[in-house]
Amino acid sequence: MEKSQVPIFIVGLLLVNIIGCADETNQMKGKEIMKDNKISLGAEVKPMAPVWVIGSYDKAGKANMMTAAWVGICCSKPPCVSIALRKATYTHTNIMERKAFTVNIPSKNYVEETDYFGLVSGRNIDKLSVTGLTPIKGEKVDAPYLKEFPVAMECKVINTVAVGSHTMFIGEIMEVKADNSMVDKNNSLLPCGLLFNPATRDYYGIGEQLGEAFTAGKEILNKQK
Ligand SMILES: Cc1cc2nc3c(=O)[nH]c(=O)nc-3n(C[C@H](O)[C@H](O)[C@H](O)COP(=O)(O)O)c2cc1C
Repeated sequence: MEKSQVPIFIVGLLLVNIIGCADETNQMKGKEIMKDNKISLGAEVKPMAPVWVIGSYDKAGKANMMTAAWVGICCSKPPCVSIALRKATYTHTNIMERKAFTVNIPSKNYVEETDYFGLVSGRNIDKLSVTGLTPIKGEKVDAPYLKEFPVAMECKVINTVAVGSHTMFIGEIMEVKADNSMVDKNNSLLPCGLLFNPATRDYYGIGEQLGEAFTAGKEILNKQK
């Protein structure tokens, strides 16, 4: 290299370094390895959730079903569930009107129907006629449940909470219905249902039994003594 070329070479080296660093910073954005070996994903990522199908009647008495994943059991006494719905859903309008809904738990045979109930609105279409599934009038509340799904809960709205984009309906469970094949000899419900991974937008079944609840932790409890 000639003497006159040395400054150009140095400037070039500096540029390569600066561009390289910027690139690396971009690659690490949102994927920064923390000290405790966890990756920060921000606040928007949601973990696995159960998938329920919510049954309701509209003003005219047409039965409707919608898929919901922002759901769960939220109280033991009285037994209650919470479901969080966007105001724009037809189901939201129906539940406001009737103060009742059902929770229908799908089996793995009904993945297609469960997904369909979340793709279109009952405002524009009769989802039950399209799928050929059968709505049955609830015994205890003013809402329909699905004959073909293995478990249904009839719920009466006891509270609503506005939470940003969603309204959380708290429903007291007035009645639980299950297929004979879904209960053991003690009338306990057997595991069933679907899970939804919002991050990858996939459905999953229930996995294997891993331990006994309120028992598996006793080994650690006993070590304390
Ligand atoms: C897997 C899945 C989960 C969903 N979870 C919810 C939810 O928790 N809350 C909600 O408001 N919408 C949820 N949706 C979207 C509604 O199901 C969708 O807007 C539906 O068309 C509403 O139906 P409706 O207008 O007949 O009530 C979900 C959709 C899918 C496919």
